[in-house]
Amino acid sequence: MPKRTLVTSALPYANGPLHLGHLAGAYLPADIYTRFLRRIGEEVIHICGTDEHGAAITLAAQKQGISPKELVDHYHEVIRKDFEDFHIAFTHFSRTSRPIHHEMSQRFFLRLYEKGDIEKRPVVQFFCPTDQVFLPDRYVEGTCPYCGARARGDQCESCGRWLEPFQLVEPRCTLCGNPPEPQETFHYYFRLSRYGERLRAWLEEKTHWKPHVRNTALSWVREGLQDRPITRDLSWGVPVPLEEAKGKVLYVWFDAPIGYVSATREWNPEGWEAWWKDPETRLVHFIGKDNIIFHAIVWPAMLMAHGAFILPADIPANQFLVFRGGEKFSTSRGTAIWLRDALSAYPADYWRYVLTAIMPETKDSEFDLEIFRERVNNELADTFGNFIQRTLSFIARHLGGRVEAVEWGAEEVAVLGRLQELRDEIREAYGAFRFRDALYGVMEVARLGNRYLDQKEPWRHRKSEPRKAHQTLYTSLQILRALVAWAEPVLPATAARVASWLAMEIPDFDAAAIPDPSLAGRTIPEPEVLFPKLEGPVVLSTPAGKKEEKKVEHKPEITYDDFARLEIRVGRILSAEPHPDADRLLVLKVSVGDEVRTLVAGIRDAYAPEDLVGRQVPVLVNLKPRKIRGVTSQGMILAATDPEGRAVLLVPDHEVPEGSEVR
Ligand code: MF3
Ligand code: ZN
Repeated sequence: MPKRTLVTSALPYANGPLHLGHLAGAYLPADIYTRFLRRIGEEVIHICGTDEHGAAITLAAQKQGISPKELVDHYHEVIRKDFEDFHIAFTHFSRTSRPIHHEMSQRFFLRLYEKGDIEKRPVVQFFCPTDQVFLPDRYVEGTCPYCGARARGDQCESCGRWLEPFQLVEPRCTLCGNPPEPQETFHYYFRLSRYGERLRAWLEEKTHWKPHVRNTALSWVREGLQDRPITRDLSWGVPVPLEEAKGKVLYVWFDAPIGYVSATREWNPEGWEAWWKDPETRLVHFIGKDNIIFHAIVWPAMLMAHGAFILPADIPANQFLVFRGGEKFSTSRGTAIWLRDALSAYPADYWRYVLTAIMPETKDSEFDLEIFRERVNNELADTFGNFIQRTLSFIARHLGGRVEAVEWGAEEVAVLGRLQELRDEIREAYGAFRFRDALYGVMEVARLGNRYLDQKEPWRHRKSEPRKAHQTLYTSLQILRALVAWAEPVLPATAARVASWLAMEIPDFDAAAIPDPSLAGRTIPEPEVLFPKLEGPVVLSTPAGKKEEKKVEHKPEITYDDFARLEIRVGRILSAEPHPDADRLLVLKVSVGDEVRTLVAGIRDAYAPEDLVGRQVPVLVNLKPRKIRGVTSQGMILAATDPEGRAVLLVPDHEVPEGSEVR
């Protein structure tokens, strides 16, 4: 049996609130696991904190017109409070902007640098002459060379392709809007390629891991690992601790996992090393599947290079929660149920119950408010709550508020035997990160209790044979006590509430299967309703799947003269054909009055070519011609964008002569 377990959950970015998908992916399972280990008497801590660096943070701050510090201060507090109200019980919840974390990350960097695992290399990167800075990938925007949509220098959100800033057509600096220039600079590379063999051997041993986690990691390692740049040109982050590297900070994915170590140290400055250096400690990282590569490859390689710390023992990543029908929970699209909205509608345990019952442990799982309502009503209220209610209110109403211990009969012995079997099944499931199965076992306990009461029908003989009624309810109370103990990792507030009614401690996991004679003679009050049923459709203040009120990102003010430089005219589409070399592009011939222009437009997923011919559309005609995947476009069609990112044509209210100006 391992001495102690260090549980971590992925440090959430402090750039926005969290949604139910985040909770189901990492934080709830981590909390359940930690509570379970505590209940079986093991030593365990749960470490987390907010991830406060990186271009995602600085860009979000810039868009809101506040400093990165203001942004992360705000969201650190929002996220911390959401977790607290969901009873995610961290041992310590820190922040990567704290000095202790900066210091530790710098030391980590230097140690790898001195060992030769970090190397300085020249690179060519975009530089903005106006702002006088090198631009991180995300700070360059332009036209996607594949689909023609507006895209960032790291990825095109429209077609999903990964990009290099240099691939963008007409790249622009996001800070000032001017074209950047390629210029030589340098970055520091982590020599990940050195660790391919060791990682492969290490991962191959992890046969007890969830297959999807191990397979994802192994397939990357087998494809061959590249060295990775681990520095960025930003003024927000952990400064690279070298004289020659002024103005550069560590890449957020380099410093963030070190946050697990620095937060442990901050929590216990004297005792933290036992948690990170003693090979008896089991390190378990809870994450969502999008974080697998960093936790199962890059971070273990960093730890191997560092040499003084233990490696992860397990990485029980979950898959995604999606809406019924398959739509993703997405922060950027505003299709998500925010933790705060969930909590203001129903208590934490309702959500914890349902999210555990459908947890995406091995594959994506579907959620919506109808699923929520059914699970709450049929399982939590009708099975779990009902058993507790029946037991306690029978004692309170018909047995004078206390039961006497009466010797077991054959049925009681059978029921208590079954209880021990269930304990073993539930224990095994919790310990193997099979929380759905564990919860199913817990519900089996409630069903066992309900069936037992149905069979014994104590209401029939409470007057004629009170001893029998006491025997039944004494037994029910033992089942209830076990139920409370085993449900506690998932339903902590409920367990505490029921235990307080009985003035008992929540029992230890194993002890809960052994009847407790002290339940006899205890005063049992009439219970409150544990889980009122949800009547009618479930409604949240921000409807699920609806766009949250979205902040419009305004561009800097311009003068009329700026605007007047644009020549926009109504054109008529004469022909439309698929681009020979790009799936999402169409090549259009458009008459703009005095001439016919060739235009390349990224509207192929929104319109079939034959639907376009003959239509009038606004055209920006004095845009400098540019080559898009081999075809020169002499201008640009103006269109709106729908929530799915597809183009929507803007058609004049009625026909006007071709070439009419738009002002
Ligand atoms: N901030 C990252 C995310 O939300 C997770 C960071 S986990 C850590 O996806 F390892 F870096 F801590
Ligand atoms: Zn600029």
